[in-house]
Amino acid sequence: MSATVALLNQKGGVGKTTVTLGLASSARAAGQRVLVVDLDPQSNASWLLGTDPATAEVTTAELLSASRSGSAGKAVRSTTWGPAVDLIASSARLLHHEGNHQREAATRLRKALEGVQDDYELVLLDCAPSLGWITTTALAAADFALVVVEPSALSLRGIEAVADTIDGVWEKLNPGIELAGVIVNRVPAVSSEAERRLDELSRIVGKRSVWQPVIPQRVIVNQANAERRPLHDYGSRAADVTNALDQLYKKLRRTVKKHG
Ligand SMILES: Nc1ncnc2c1ncn2[C@@H]1O[C@H](COP(=O)(O)OP(=O)(O)O)[C@@H](O)[C@H]1O
Ligand SMILES: [Mg+2]
Repeated sequence: MSATVALLNQKGGVGKTTVTLGLASSARAAGQRVLVVDLDPQSNASWLLGTDPATAEVTTAELLSASRSGSAGKAVRSTTWGPAVDLIASSARLLHHEGNHQREAATRLRKALEGVQDDYELVLLDCAPSLGWITTTALAAADFALVVVEPSALSLRGIEAVADTIDGVWEKLNPGIELAGVIVNRVPAVSSEAERRLDELSRIVGKRSVWQPVIPQRVIVNQANAERRPLHDYGSRAADVTNALDQLYKKLRRTVKKHG
């Protein structure tokens, strides 16, 4: 039972890409295959998985330009992370797609992924930091939405707008989408401010929607990103982070099975 999961937040820098690739790293460690779809014109996920976006010819930008069932198949690339993690790269050409609000256009990604997702345990959509049209296409294609936040005032400010966007897509484009929950990333070891923000988050979205465990803030995350390697390759040095990611990955798999 495969599923497509959109990881989103309108705010940049909260860890959407890090969590997407962290979950991909957990899948890889568990011997399961995932497809990462990069929907951010900044192409960070593409770069982290070993693709120079300037050289990628068929990217998410091309998939969003035309409506063809299964067209994502020819956009799939292998990655430097090995056979467990495949990629559909993004390119700066995605920027030209903002502002297209037709229903047919908004469901193009969904159509493009038809059939392709069956080859994977999960398809992970790494969204751009906006609630614009590209994120709408991601939500229209997704079975589940996972909101990524960090425990800061600015990160929580926009969360209601994110929930409203998911609701809007559910009403108009994709009655199958479900808000799976909120993943909290980059939680400092000791911080009363962060704790207050976590309490506030539970009040806003409900305690059960905040997924446990939270992902700690660790320098090894920056190192793994700089070296473009999966966190699980760092063994005990990354254990705090990979343990959290493994549990979140398992919860995601359970969520998918329960609703499948
Ligand atoms: N748990 C974490 N601990 C430390 N640094 C992190 C953590 N998660 C993300 N970062 C760093 O924060 C920055 C932004 O993360 P990124 O995943 O690119 O965010 P987004 O995709 O939401 O823009 C990156 O430099 C990344 O290395
Ligand atoms: Mg990103």
